[in-house]
Amino acid sequence: MTPSNVKATLSFSDGSPAMELPIYKGSIGPDVIDIRKLYAQTGKFTYDPGFLSTAACNSTITYIDGDKGELLYRGYPIEQLATQCDFLDTCYLLLYGELPNAQQQKDFDTLVTRHTMVNEQMQFYLRGFRRDAHPMAVMTGLVGALSAFYHDSTDIHNAKHREISAIRLIAKMPTLVAMAYKYGIGQPFIYPRNELSYSANFMRMMFATPCEEYVSNPVLVRAIDRIFILHADHEQNASTSTVRLCGSSGTNPFAAIAAGVACLWGPAHGGANEAALNMLKEIQREGGVEKIGEFIKRVKDKNSTVKLMGFGHRVYKNYDPRAKLMRETCHEVLEALGLHDDPLFKLAMSLEKIALEDEYFVARKLYPNVDFYSGIVQSALGIPVTLFTAIFALARTVGWIAQLNEMIADPEYKIGRPRQLYAGSVRRDVLPIAARA
Ligand code: CMC
Repeated sequence: MTPSNVKATLSFSDGSPAMELPIYKGSIGPDVIDIRKLYAQTGKFTYDPGFLSTAACNSTITYIDGDKGELLYRGYPIEQLATQCDFLDTCYLLLYGELPNAQQQKDFDTLVTRHTMVNEQMQFYLRGFRRDAHPMAVMTGLVGALSAFYHDSTDIHNAKHREISAIRLIAKMPTLVAMAYKYGIGQPFIYPRNELSYSANFMRMMFATPCEEYVSNPVLVRAIDRIFILHADHEQNASTSTVRLCGSSGTNPFAAIAAGVACLWGPAHGGANEAALNMLKEIQREGGVEKIGEFIKRVKDKNSTVKLMGFGHRVYKNYDPRAKLMRETCHEVLEALGLHDDPLFKLAMSLEKIALEDEYFVARKLYPNVDFYSGIVQSALGIPVTLFTAIFALARTVGWIAQLNEMIADPEYKIGRPRQLYAGSVRRDVLPIAARA
């Protein structure tokens, strides 16, 4: 960390001694005030529920400028990665810090491809679930269960174990997501094929049956690959912070990633793509474009809990750059499938336009996020709504692992242990039951 010439001084109105706090500079973005010695020197904690002003780590992986609407993976703009690289290049970049050269790309693609099969026993574990189980319930279980199958890569403090578990997780997530899908609809599992690209393989495992040859559509393969790239990492979001906190205890990588999957499931995070599409369908059922005004009124009503799903972001106070790319992909996919008049896409564009002009959204700097259009794309690809968040988990796995590995390799790494402002009862004694109120 680069120290700044500027220092912060913390003073107290009760005459307690002031404290000088070092400041560190990032390569871009806000500086941080180092409060690590605060408790030792003042006996006080800082209070920041929801981490509104707290940097929990220093990282070299992903940078977001929320005001500009900029997203960089290892310095590269998401727009360039989404148009000039594929998902496995992006994985390589996130894991190792640089884009692969031709040989590295070939070796990495082969390495990942050769790990796409899962232990046959996983099928029997999967069969324990109800057929109508939510795919995220299934995925949380399956990913956690990997630690029971790959005992040779569970030591998080061993760099070799971390590397092989990273490859295994990236390679096996598509197989597991496709298995969860096939299980839910009662179709046979389709095994991976090594001659296909990562994304073409995923589409085949999802949509092929043993009855006929599956021919993939390159536009749709490219679309799913782009979805993977756009979701690959997003710095210290809730699920990534969960993975870091979980992994900080020294638990194995599969268990830490399973914790990330569980966190991602929530509707305020990865579950928003599912919620956004359901919202569009509901508006459509109620009358479509005509009913947008009424819906927006409900969103703005302080007494209602209705939100415009796929809008708003803790960090972006401008258009999420991923949403722009996703809208573009949406156009391409609908065009390729002859669905240019898709009513949900038209509704989404009208809703976006109206919201972006509305004072409520303008004042709060609420813009479309990646989830606003991703549901429409995924639906067009034939992916059922309940599987959307599992696709997000598949893509985010590489980000989680890169962040986890960065934390473990950091010499300053410690188990995560937030503190609290205790506001409960002061010490008291247990009364005999007859004397209790
Ligand atoms: N619809 C209506 N009002 C909203 C919305 C929305 N989608 N998002 C924020 N607001 C309002 C909120 O009510 C608050 O208003 P007020 O100041 O009058 O109380 C103000 O905007 C600030 O919102 P906040 O809840 O304090 O913001 P936050 O940073 O805590 O929440 C968020 C961020 C993403 C949870 C929230 O914007 C939201 O719930 N959006 C809908 C869900 C969604 O699309 N999530 C996907 C996020 S991107 C993918 C991912 O990273 O997982």
